Amino acid sequence: MIPRFKPALGWSELLALFKFKRGAVKKFEQAFARKFEAVDAVSFPYGRSAQWAFFKALGIEGAEVIMPSYTCSVVAHAVSLSGNIPRFVDIDLHDYNMDLGIAEALITSKTRAIIATHTFGYPQNLERLEKMVKKAEQEHGHKVWLIQDCCHAFGAKWKSRIIGSSGDVAIYAFNISKMITTIFGGMLTFQDQELANKLRTWRDAHYQKPSFIKSFKRRFYLLAVFFAFNSVIYGLVWWLQSKTPFLNKLTKAYHLDNKIHFPPDYKDKMLDVEASVGLLQLGRYDKIIRDRRRIAEDYNNKLEIRTGWVLPPIVEGATYSHYTIRVPNREEIKKEYAAKSVEIGELIQYSVPDLKCYTDNNSECKNATLCSRETINLPLHNNV
Ligand SMILES: Cc1ncc(COP(=O)(O)O)c(C=O)c1O
Repeated sequence: MIPRFKPALGWSELLALFKFKRGAVKKFEQAFARKFEAVDAVSFPYGRSAQWAFFKALGIEGAEVIMPSYTCSVVAHAVSLSGNIPRFVDIDLHDYNMDLGIAEALITSKTRAIIATHTFGYPQNLERLEKMVKKAEQEHGHKVWLIQDCCHAFGAKWKSRIIGSSGDVAIYAFNISKMITTIFGGMLTFQDQELANKLRTWRDAHYQKPSFIKSFKRRFYLLAVFFAFNSVIYGLVWWLQSKTPFLNKLTKAYHLDNKIHFPPDYKDKMLDVEASVGLLQLGRYDKIIRDRRRIAEDYNNKLEIRTGWVLPPIVEGATYSHYTIRVPNREEIKKEYAAKSVEIGELIQYSVPDLKCYTDNNSECKNATLCSRETINLPLHNNV
């Protein structure tokens, strides 16, 4: 069975699990900042808790935060749990990114931050975003923070500018479905050293050192992942996942879509073992992105298109965290491909404002709802 995604892990990441290295977190932060053209980087246990910490450390509370409707629900959870209000923006069907015209119209005197997600690795128009923020600041007379969510778009470029290298802060996440992994983990990158220092000091005062038991659990998890994604073994994993509730139960604490919730360890610091894996993954990054771009182009050139299918655009500078097609009959396609031993993904099966916990929000985002019903993701890893 070809899995819908597969972390690009090698034997060196496996060996790193058996070494007990101190100081890896600091090294990973420095290497990450260098790689993605930031002045500094501050690590966290998850992307969502990095985002939450940003709001808390800067005392942003009771504010409206503009964000896309078609994104991971935990982005909205981080906004809500930090005491702020998400304002959802519909997406552009061309590249799945937040529609900046709608975003601009939603800005009010209460808006204190804009989260621009580079969805599926497609770069948002940085120039337009920056203009929009400047205009909002001039109109309302206060700071409007520009947060770039780069969790799908490590190193993507908009017109030769690397995304995340402008604006106030960029967020990255490193769970096993991301382009590079640290088992679990998150990062904030900054262009302003003072702001980075502020976040690091705040994190050190509010986040704790994880337990020894957790560091063993994380090692065991990566070991299991390493073997589970072997294409022979993956058939069994796929069966457990699609035919039994067993694996869902294991991941439940990490991700609930219908409840505004964080995992209990969201205030643990990143582990040295996670950072050691991250350092090795950074070394693989260039090849990972090259392969993804090549496979995405191959799909676009060679896939036999059927009636009603909408293929994704090939965009210069995109990193293709996912290869997303819209199809009118998703369940049939999934069954058909499964019979050929190919697992089809459905990355975002909801528009966030349609989720039970956000329906009070009164936002209608028709394109996001359409995508939540029609999108599928084809595998984009070196087993394809
Ligand atoms: C676009 C986006 N932003 C943020 C996150 C949050 O990352 P994490 O799961 O590490 O909290 C994710 C999660 O996968 C994501 O897809």
